Amino acid sequence: MRKPFICGNWKMYKTNAEAVAFVNEAKSLVAGATDVDVGIGAPATALKSLADAAKGTNIMVGGENCHWEKEGAFTGEIAPGMLVECGCSFVIIGHSERRQYFGETNETCNKKAKAAIANGLTVILCCGETLDEREAGKTTAVVTDHVKNGLAGFTPEEMKKIVIAYEPVWAIGTGKTATPEQAQEVHAVIRTLLADMFGKDIAEATRIQYGGSVKPENVKEIMAQPDVDGALVGGAALKPDSFAKLVNFKA
Ligand code: 13P
Repeated sequence: MRKPFICGNWKMYKTNAEAVAFVNEAKSLVAGATDVDVGIGAPATALKSLADAAKGTNIMVGGENCHWEKEGAFTGEIAPGMLVECGCSFVIIGHSERRQYFGETNETCNKKAKAAIANGLTVILCCGETLDEREAGKTTAVVTDHVKNGLAGFTPEEMKKIVIAYEPVWAIGTGKTATPEQAQEVHAVIRTLLADMFGKDIAEATRIQYGGSVKPENVKEIMAQPDVDGALVGGAALKPDSFAKLVNFKA
């Protein structure tokens, strides 16, 4: 059985003080969700205080990006080991916003994911098509390209630390959620691809999150799909009560 993973992605929201206040309010609200993995991806500046505030709770903390080198002359970048030192246990790689605005490619995602795993981090590797691509019938091709090349050369051992997030770009921050059926269709494509690449056991064990306008009102029907194993949530993860409702989707 795959353990559901509900994860916030705060993007460029929340200062240190706001992050700590969030955890102090949210921790008791999500404490009962022992059969769900709970995480928050946060801006780099807030990670240390967030992780300190989350110590002893069931909330994991993660970065939203990292570099592939251990250190070096890469102004503005953050090494995987630096995330670990801040208390992170995972990192989000290849979010569509990073692909769109910061030149992230499958190749850089691949290098970043490998380096993150080598440092003991779990990786949430994002994939997803734009509206134009969906309308042109290219959804499967785009998602396959992201996943196949993002995970090129990965070993079965490394795959144990990989979570895939399917995030249709047209559903991010737009209020337009994919229907549960649309999500399931793509998730099934991804799982079949993982089976082709790494074998059935790894495909069955790998968690695939859905992301794109997930809210307390629709989380249950999305999570009910057989190949949806979690959610990666932006807007609805910014308030403790809404985040807690997502985490407690079974209640
Ligand atoms: P929204 O939940 O705000 O649509 O954002 C989704 C997302 O990009 C999560 O990574």
